[in-house]
Amino acid sequence: MQFWALLATVSLASAVPTKVDKRDTLGNYTTSIKAVQTPIPTVSTSEIFDELSLNLWSTFWDTSHNDWVDVCGATNKSHLWSVAVAGRAIALGGDDSKTQKAVDIFSEYKSASVAGYSATQAKDTDIYTDDDAQVVWALVDAYNVLGDKTILDEAIALHEFIENQKNPQIGGITWNYQGKYVALISVVEAALSALKIYEVKQNRKLIDFAKYCLGWTFDNLLDPENKFINDGKSTDGSVNQGKLTYTVGVAMSSLAYLLKWDQSEDWLAKAVELGVRSLGGGNLDSQFFTDGYINDTPDHSVYFYAGLADILELTSPLGGYQNDAYGLFKNELVRETRHLYDQYSSVLNGCQKKGGFNSLLNYGSLTQIFYQVNRVAPRI
Ligand SMILES: *[C@@H]1O[C@H](CO)[C@@H](O)[C@H](O)[C@H]1NC(C)=O
Ligand SMILES: *[C@@H]1O[C@H](CO)[C@@H](O)[C@H](O)[C@H]1NC(C)=O
Repeated sequence: MQFWALLATVSLASAVPTKVDKRDTLGNYTTSIKAVQTPIPTVSTSEIFDELSLNLWSTFWDTSHNDWVDVCGATNKSHLWSVAVAGRAIALGGDDSKTQKAVDIFSEYKSASVAGYSATQAKDTDIYTDDDAQVVWALVDAYNVLGDKTILDEAIALHEFIENQKNPQIGGITWNYQGKYVALISVVEAALSALKIYEVKQNRKLIDFAKYCLGWTFDNLLDPENKFINDGKSTDGSVNQGKLTYTVGVAMSSLAYLLKWDQSEDWLAKAVELGVRSLGGGNLDSQFFTDGYINDTPDHSVYFYAGLADILELTSPLGGYQNDAYGLFKNELVRETRHLYDQYSSVLNGCQKKGGFNSLLNYGSLTQIFYQVNRVAPRI
């Protein structure tokens, strides 16, 4: 019996590639990297970030209700996604009193019945784990500004809720509360949520969880052809093959953070491959580009910029190929944000419809984009 069982296992293993094989196919890729040129720098990235943060607050924070408005000039409240992005942009600016207010408003979204935060102030069970993960990031950044332990405890409690949304049928982190879809964005944002908490409160379980999320992602959603990552998987096993810059970006960020604390796999090589492939090896012609520029709008591309900035700031290149890749990441980050500046410098003056920057989500995202480039380049 045992003999046959062993034989059967061996032949199966050689016929069907195991899950681990699929994961290992990411990280071995190299290509000849084409250098990307940047324009002559004319503006200071910290000045743009400061101006955007000031305007974000003066334009979208409603002082009479102590709440964000969703669209400038209007009075309607916003969705959690936008509030998380804007709140984090404010925390990154480091102003104590504004950061406190941006944190306080999250409590209006806390579900009345479960430990997650709801999409709206209805406080119901319409809950999205990716939005909740972005709240965790904002809370950790706010904790770094204010040093108030209750904020960190809130981040940890919300992260635990996210961890509990592991899909019972197919694994990964379910996108919406009790839903049937495991979205890549929920899985990678949950990984980054764990890693951001780990930066301030070390508990090895957080690293294990982040590794689980990334492993699940590569095993289930890696496209074997182009090595981009698919949008998600339903409990019936079907895979949505859509691909977005911000999901790749959050994967790159998670890998960059993870590398600091865990060397069990070559996380850096995987992050670099995702970055290089996304940029078409410097040809800027992958599916994420149109006419040489990123085709997602800032609310969707913001975490791609963050992914590049995290790789550049948190990790170091190993060898010549990775050196070239880092040069590409930096120049493209500079070039692309300068393009945004050239297109949208008028929005620095406040509420503008141009480019949809009259919405909290877009304005908050643009603010975060300039925070990211400021980490790696003083001028663009
Ligand atoms: C790269 O290729 C080697 C040999 O083909 C393989 O052993 C390894 O698992 C692959 N993946 C990575 C990430 O190095
Ligand atoms: C707020 O109102 C604007 C129109 O004034 C609308 O476009 C937007 O979707 C509304 N936001 C929410 C969250 O309902």
